[in-house]
Amino acid sequence: MRNVIILAAVLLVASCKKESQEPFGKTEATTETTTEITSTPENLGKELFEGKGACIACHRVETKLVGPSVQDMAKAYKEKNGDLVAFLKEEAQPIMDPSQYEIMKANFAITKAMSDDELKEIEAYIYSTMK
Ligand code: HEC
Repeated sequence: MRNVIILAAVLLVASCKKESQEPFGKTEATTETTTEITSTPENLGKELFEGKGACIACHRVETKLVGPSVQDMAKAYKEKNGDLVAFLKEEAQPIMDPSQYEIMKANFAITKAMSDDELKEIEAYIYSTMK
């Protein structure tokens, strides 16, 4: 019951807030849409992949470099029903190229320091490259 009251109060505050913002109507709506487009999980994942994660050093989208291409990862994980997030947390074994696993292993220091959300964004990005 207490929760219901709190929820009602939160909703009330939220709806008031919305109303008070309405005069700004159009500009507000436009900015919101832009932010939403650039911050989809796929896009955030791409940023992590190319930025903080530095995965791009060994993984290109379409071609194999040091490691498998991003498209091949997506394909292999989809076909084998693998768990990319678990792999990046070092909780699941490699399913693509176990002979080269040692090279990939060095990156778990980076991926394990990432939040679950960030890892899910990388996963979303990897799957988004699949044709
Ligand atoms: C120094 C080079 C290097 C970097 C940097 C690197 N990888 Fe890898 N990666 C590899 C190699 C080599 C393999 C192949 C071995 C394997 O399959 O585990 C691999 C394999 C993978 C696989 C397939 C794993 C499997 O099931 O076999 C995934 C997914 C992956 N990397 C994701 C990433 C992500 C995400 C990052 C960035 C956080 C990253 N890699 C950074 C070299 C690298």
